[in-house]
Amino acid sequence: MSRLESMIRRLTAQKIGLEWGVGHTQNIAGDFVEIGLGNGRSYDHLRETAPDKKIWVLDRALQCHPSCVPPEGSFMQGEVNEAMMQMKSDNIGIALAHYDLGIGIKDKDKAEAAALSPRIKDIMVKGGLIISSQPLVGFTQIDGPAEIPTGRYYFYKA
Ligand SMILES: C[S@@+](CC[C@H](N)C(=O)[O-])C[C@H]1O[C@@H](n2cnc3c(N)ncnc32)[C@H](O)[C@@H]1O
Repeated sequence: MSRLESMIRRLTAQKIGLEWGVGHTQNIAGDFVEIGLGNGRSYDHLRETAPDKKIWVLDRALQCHPSCVPPEGSFMQGEVNEAMMQMKSDNIGIALAHYDLGIGIKDKDKAEAAALSPRIKDIMVKGGLIISSQPLVGFTQIDGPAEIPTGRYYFYKA
């Protein structure tokens, strides 16, 4: 599989997964968080899919498309580890988290996701969902949308 094909598969799974996550957190009180703004593509889809939700957005840099700049007070610039510690101390409860860090180097991305998992756990409300591009640890892994093959995107319940 070419890297282009791999990217198309991943982004398709991401889109379907985010929509599924929004649909399955309708009755769970809490905000959303986008972990890794990047270009802003998945954040843009999340805010279009859930226009009434407060979405916290984390990244060390604001380097997204101009149309995807988060509203004042929603963007936390810096290391996500520290941003999530701040969220915990501010008592912010997350119903839906989208984790999308990674540079495409499997072992490194996996280790980073494992290291950040406890910080994610700290901010999730009970029963909240995590939709993740990387495998996380310390959560219950659940089946996501049927059309996404196992291991292409990851789904967890807090
Ligand atoms: C794969 S991109 C996110 C893509 C984005 N979700 C999109 O759809 O456009 C990952 C982003 O995470 C940020 N990032 C990676 N590791 C980070 C860390 N430890 N703390 C803060 N930001 C980080 C990078 O700056 C980059 O913008």
